[in-house]
Amino acid sequence: MLKPLNIGMIGYGFMGRAHSNAYRQVNQFFPLKHRAVLKAICARDKNKVEEFASTWGYESTETDWKKLVERKDIDVIDICTPNHLHAEISKHAAAFGKMILCEKPLSMNAEEGLEMVSAVEKAKVPNMVWYNYRRVPAITLAKQIIDSGKLGRIFHYRSNFLQDWTINPELPQGGAALWRLDVASAGSGVTGDLLAHCIDTAMWLNGPLSTVSALIETFVKERKHNLTGKVEKVGIDDACTFMGRFANGSLASFESTRYARGHKALFTLEINGEYGSLAWDLHDLHRLSIFDYKEDSLTRGWKSVHVTDGEHPYMKNWWVPGLQIGYEHTFIHQVADFIAALESGTNAQPDFRSAYQTQLVLDAVLKSAREKNWVSIAY
Ligand SMILES: NC(=O)c1ccc[n+]([C@@H]2O[C@H](COP(=O)([O-])OP(=O)(O)OC[C@H]3O[C@@H](n4cnc5c(N)ncnc54)[C@H](O)[C@@H]3O)[C@@H](O)[C@H]2O)c1
Repeated sequence: MLKPLNIGMIGYGFMGRAHSNAYRQVNQFFPLKHRAVLKAICARDKNKVEEFASTWGYESTETDWKKLVERKDIDVIDICTPNHLHAEISKHAAAFGKMILCEKPLSMNAEEGLEMVSAVEKAKVPNMVWYNYRRVPAITLAKQIIDSGKLGRIFHYRSNFLQDWTINPELPQGGAALWRLDVASAGSGVTGDLLAHCIDTAMWLNGPLSTVSALIETFVKERKHNLTGKVEKVGIDDACTFMGRFANGSLASFESTRYARGHKALFTLEINGEYGSLAWDLHDLHRLSIFDYKEDSLTRGWKSVHVTDGEHPYMKNWWVPGLQIGYEHTFIHQVADFIAALESGTNAQPDFRSAYQTQLVLDAVLKSAREKNWVSIAY
């Protein structure tokens, strides 16, 4: 008999759906001692939250997140709200002894992130941040290859996250659908939204970034605000490019924008070492490109590994070799890892403290762009 792990989720948008799907599937595919139970879903609109609960099978609903956090029958608070609410909800949940799963970015800035780290560490509650790309099997495989030393000394790491959905200057900012364009809800633009993923993945694969130099741009300076009805200054960055250095001496090159016409969600990464290189992109997420310099020179070349064999990370829990999985599975893997870690008395990574390191880099990137200077990062 599996022990119930009662989930109380706040927010039923994009991530609310991705996480609900993960909780529903995890026990079907991963052998665990706990069963994720969809105990309660919370959002402000009573009718919509009840509809969501009935679609996904939640046992109950709330419209006030504080009430949900304070309920005795909830073990885990899952935060799927816009960024400005992450800190307040996390601190309240920690004070009530709840385990916390928080969406990325951890916080609006590093200072707020540190308060969240202190709150969960003081309360000694298990905590994790949903940097789900670590759980793409091809990226987990990249980590195994890099950690084995097979690439030798690392020279370069480059990563992009390109989109094109905010080019229209008539697009308003703010409100339920467009909070990402409102600096008061998002904290920053592509830097916190998209580069946060690139940075978390990069530091997991290649170690900490030590110094950065960045350029940001806001192409559309004013937009109508959905909450006030007035045309207001846009406070987010539409595009961010930065270079830097990792602590291991390798050079970093990162770019993100919502103005790359034709690109919807092109997250790419490439790492170049002395004996080989690895490359990955989200549009073909089940493949890892590998170049191994030690192979026979006559037949040496880039190969594309279909990461679907039983010995590949996570894949033995799915179908048969050759059949791929997708984006939604990264969340299932993350829940499985969280529960497994809980059962062995550890925190699944990245926990709040690890995600705080990404927050320090995001702050350094924005500071560097503002001050037109190199900025060093002390962890
Ligand atoms: N891990 C990833 O790949 C990934 C992808 C997308 C978004 N995110 C992150 O997830 C979070 C949510 O993003 P999203 O795309 O799901 O947004 P969304 O707009 O689709 O959903 C946000 C939800 O929060 C709810 N909400 C807002 N204010 C609330 C309040 N005061 N009380 C209760 N509910 C409230 C809204 O009703 C909505 O259901 C953000 O922090 C975002 O950065 C992560």
